[in-house]
Amino acid sequence: MQAQDHAPLLDQIFSVDLHEESYVIESISGTIPEYVRGAYYLNGPARFSIGDVTYNNWLDGDGMVTSLAFTDEAVKFTNRFVHSHKYLAEEKAGRAIYRCFGTAFEGDELKRGIGTESPINVSLYPFANRLLAFGEQSMPYELEMETLETIGPFDFDGYLNDITPFSAHPKFDRESGEMFNFGISFSSRQPRLTLHRFDATGKIIFRKRLAIDYACSIHDFGLSPSYAIFYLSPYILDIEKLTQNGSATIDTMSWRPELGSQLRILSREDGTEVANIPIGQGYCLHLANCFEADGLLVVDVVEYERPLYEEYQPIPDLFTTVSPGRPVRLSIDMSSQEIVGRHVVDYARSPDFPGCDPRLLTKPCQDMWMLGISKATGQNGRKFYDELVHVEWQQDTVRDLYRAPAGSYLGGEPVFLGDPSDESKGAIICQIHDTSNQQSDFAIFDAFDVSAGPQARLHLRHPIRLGFHACFDG
Ligand SMILES: [Fe+2]
Repeated sequence: MQAQDHAPLLDQIFSVDLHEESYVIESISGTIPEYVRGAYYLNGPARFSIGDVTYNNWLDGDGMVTSLAFTDEAVKFTNRFVHSHKYLAEEKAGRAIYRCFGTAFEGDELKRGIGTESPINVSLYPFANRLLAFGEQSMPYELEMETLETIGPFDFDGYLNDITPFSAHPKFDRESGEMFNFGISFSSRQPRLTLHRFDATGKIIFRKRLAIDYACSIHDFGLSPSYAIFYLSPYILDIEKLTQNGSATIDTMSWRPELGSQLRILSREDGTEVANIPIGQGYCLHLANCFEADGLLVVDVVEYERPLYEEYQPIPDLFTTVSPGRPVRLSIDMSSQEIVGRHVVDYARSPDFPGCDPRLLTKPCQDMWMLGISKATGQNGRKFYDELVHVEWQQDTVRDLYRAPAGSYLGGEPVFLGDPSDESKGAIICQIHDTSNQQSDFAIFDAFDVSAGPQARLHLRHPIRLGFHACFDG
């Protein structure tokens, strides 16, 4: 039976021509809240073909970063490709050189023969008075804050080298300014997870290695006041297949639910392991927040029945057979090392890009926002994010939901901006693309009334890709 198309014209998102530009946005409908002032940043895959090679997986595209600079007078849009080593070498050659996560081709190359050359397309964050763009398990790149021009790889004063695994999801302590991050060594003999802790200037405080039971893909982690929390799922990468068989990374990976998933909890102070707790057979890509309250460690995640990366291909037919995913709040008694609470919110439409009020990271927090797929209910056929969802953890169902009109799709992690004059108010920024007129907008919602639709829409001159992770530097 022919699969249905639940995402008409989705191919437009991946194929429209891109422009690198910088301009004041002249077309704005609605009203931008007065407290939305500062810089919004977004990163995501954007270039999906080079020479005669067309990429297969959403994760393959070269990173393009976007900023919105909000001032009292105007909103300025800027976007640029990240000039990674991969991007520059392939631009110069006029052809694809490097094998990607989901695309292998005749004559392709690996970095030093052992890993993929990152397209630096996942996230970007300000840290230590710099703006850093991150790719999966690779050295970040420093960008110029206003123009987004690439300054170059950032190695933390010689601490990282170009094969150090380093995730795209660093975590920051707002009070101390410290940064934590991790890397995975995919050795088949002794896979390891390494936790890094940096001070507010980017100087390393410690590095701690932990042996793990399988060489699993881990994309994100959580930080609470006392702990670094890792949800390990048995989505296992075979490094020999990558280095010896010429396989694309995704074709070296296997889902082995029978091995079980684990919560590995490390001390934030020194990186030593304090708990290893079996947690069923789910798959976790992103964590939203972790905190400690009433003697419990609380971990907010989105949990799926199986991994997502296969659903990112083939472009543009995404999420064809996506498994159900749900927001889950786990409560862990650290003295008995047991999961004593598991609150599942009744929303199984494979949500992703969960986030909360950044002022409440590592603190008790009752609200979370994420993107969901309205058609992700066991229906075969391509689909995409079209719902902005507000979860209130005390409820069993979602608190509030905005569904984009038919033919419009949402992208970019929904970023929360708090109203400084009222802790109970805030705005959400995300992308919306209308395929009927090829119009890309940024939309600003009242975070606590998303179903009312955008309060403001910033209409861009030219369409852009729907991106991955975003942040706001207020
Ligand atoms: Fe991510």
